[in-house]
Amino acid sequence: MELIKRPRRLRGGETVRRMVRETRMDKSSLIYPLFAIDGENIEEEIPSMEGQYRYSVDRLPYELERLSKAGVSSVMLFGIPEHKDEVGSQAYAQDGIVQRALREARKQFPDLYYITDVCMCEYTSHGHCGVLCGHDVENDGTLELLSKTALSHVQAGADMVAPSDMMDGRVAAIRRLLDKNGYKEIPIMSYAVKYASAFYGPFRDAAGSAPSFGDRKSYQMDPHNSREGIKEALMDVEEGADIIMVKPAMSYLDLVTRVKEATNVPVAAYSVSGEYAMVKAAAKMDWIDEERIMCEMAVSAYRAGAQIYLTYYAKELAKCMDEGRIG
Ligand code: PBG
Repeated sequence: MELIKRPRRLRGGETVRRMVRETRMDKSSLIYPLFAIDGENIEEEIPSMEGQYRYSVDRLPYELERLSKAGVSSVMLFGIPEHKDEVGSQAYAQDGIVQRALREARKQFPDLYYITDVCMCEYTSHGHCGVLCGHDVENDGTLELLSKTALSHVQAGADMVAPSDMMDGRVAAIRRLLDKNGYKEIPIMSYAVKYASAFYGPFRDAAGSAPSFGDRKSYQMDPHNSREGIKEALMDVEEGADIIMVKPAMSYLDLVTRVKEATNVPVAAYSVSGEYAMVKAAAKMDWIDEERIMCEMAVSAYRAGAQIYLTYYAKELAKCMDEGRIG
């Protein structure tokens, strides 16, 4: 055969394969989601997310230490409060679970980077991401509570806030309140392109945040749409978002690529609880190679254009990066 072009030439050995890698990853782009729960001496495994735990504030530092040893420098903090009410008042309470966790974490591990999830669903008795008006989630009334929540996180030591509620105008509202209080330099990572997804199932288990009636389709996006995702991303950039997130990751990588092309801000992809749980379950059955699947999922998110990757596998991925198996 007289073949001029032979792509296999560049696949002949590990050294050349590494040389021509198009996707390079770095531990500094990993964010680990972490659950803080009210109470004491709690480190309980989340049944639907094997290997992931809910930590009380006193136990949280042990996990922060493991993260920092693994070289993971950023966390996304979620709170699971003891008391929920109609308006989610524990979300913005000065002594709320996230606020206390932040103060403690900052004290013990001041060099980690703390991002907080800003939402109401873990804190409302009805489990929706905002305040209700009848059976509807009331957009404009929710903005004030979200902004107050973000401000209270920053006052407790958050480095960055990440609104995940999908209310219209929340980035602008949060930006305004942070600026008014002198926090002009605190970035906002917006969960801008967030779909109404069944992939969040295990998370809602973990956080006890499943809606008590109805679903989230009136505020989270319809999986059939992608141009709408660009609209959301552009609006949030306009409102002052510094980073745009696409969520979930695996089934929405087209959006990662498109948002990357349509905007000039960093794009984050969140590999959510359902993605993690599927891999764990299949690996337990010995049906797949957990490490290789985990790596492949990460690589595909970066290849699609993500600069930042949120994953429950952050520690394990960091190890694979250290050992040169990916990246
Ligand atoms: C909302 C929020 C959710 C997740 C992150 N922030 C749940 C939801 O929208 O129902 C899901 C994360 C995951 O599934 O890993 N506070």
